[in-house]
Amino acid sequence: MTVAVYPGSFDPVTLGHMDIIERTAQMMDHVIVGVLQNKSKTPLFSAEERVRMLEKITSRIKNVEVQSFDGLLVDFVHKCRANVIVRGLRAITDFEYELQMAQTNRVMAPDIDTIFLTTNLRYSYLSSTTVKEIAFYHGRLEEFLHPFVAEQVRQKVEDYYQSKN
Ligand code: PNS
Repeated sequence: MTVAVYPGSFDPVTLGHMDIIERTAQMMDHVIVGVLQNKSKTPLFSAEERVRMLEKITSRIKNVEVQSFDGLLVDFVHKCRANVIVRGLRAITDFEYELQMAQTNRVMAPDIDTIFLTTNLRYSYLSSTTVKEIAFYHGRLEEFLHPFVAEQVRQKVEDYYQSKN
């Protein structure tokens, strides 16, 4: 049985992430989406909120589950009894960081392999950071996010502006 972990910040999950999740679910027996809890920068959504959004929009894919994790990715992958890490590659600019991460993880855990999926060309420019910037300037989000996620982002931005008043 091949179990894959697809890790990330998912702050918020974009249609580019969803494309990778759907394609991974077709190739693997089971997919665990791993939501990183702790990051130096403050996320827009708490880990619980990010997990909830991912659960909602992946509920129709039967072999996908969502969990949050803290600490080293390789420890989480071992805990999940998974053998593969999946990462999406958008452009050559992603490659250096991704290669460094994959090599480091392989030194720490030689039993785990990282595989890369090239992102659908439609989403090759897309990032959670760009989406947040668009949201804070009240731009349209439906091209980039699932409608449920777009609504959650709009709400968050509204709450932020309200708290400033
Ligand atoms: O969506 P992101 O922010 O590009 O995801 C990065 C992530 C979560 C995959 C990476 O930061 C990670 O694995 N963090 C956990 C800590 C860890 O294992 N660091 C060593 C990796 S070389």
